[in-house]
Amino acid sequence: MDVIQIKEKQFKTFIPEADILKEVERVASEINRDLADANPLFISVLNGSFMFTADLMKRLTIPCEISFVKLASYEGMSSSGKIKELVGLGEDIAGRTVVIVEDIVDTGLTMQRLLETLRARNPKEIRIATLLVKPDKLKVDLDIPYVAMRIPNDFIVGYGLDYEGFGRNYRDIYSVVE
Ligand code: IMP
Repeated sequence: MDVIQIKEKQFKTFIPEADILKEVERVASEINRDLADANPLFISVLNGSFMFTADLMKRLTIPCEISFVKLASYEGMSSSGKIKELVGLGEDIAGRTVVIVEDIVDTGLTMQRLLETLRARNPKEIRIATLLVKPDKLKVDLDIPYVAMRIPNDFIVGYGLDYEGFGRNYRDIYSVVE
């Protein structure tokens, strides 16, 4: 087992690259099967999903397009504090089949907000593809048809995911050592 240090925390190997890629392969074949005639637009949510997006797209054989967005946090004036605003979506998604590509659904609040924002632009359908879900932390009811892996609540890094900006470059997924 590999142990890495990021800032003050230690992380140990949790999901090796080969296991990740096996599940990405499975999700890709599900999408190839389901959306062959849908001409989907994939919307990849940066930064965390860049590795998953690349490995997923390489395995898709159907006609499709891809675009990249970011959710920018800023301090809102409302009492709820932080608001995340969608930036970077230039495409007209009206009438399109959209597939959101995310790194991880934790509480699901980010995804819920993203869905609301995209639905306002009148797509035909929105499906979610996520590398990871932490089912025990989900606070909202989400339909997620494409899930590569379900994991416990531990904080993880690697394969695109970060701890304070670091760790995205690792090819395996690591979990924090408490
Ligand atoms: P949610 O709104 O609680 O679902 O949070 C989703 C976002 O939190 C993800 O897109 C990640 O950026 C971040 N996140 C949640 N859990 C982890 C983790 O274990 N490691 C790194 N980032 C995480």
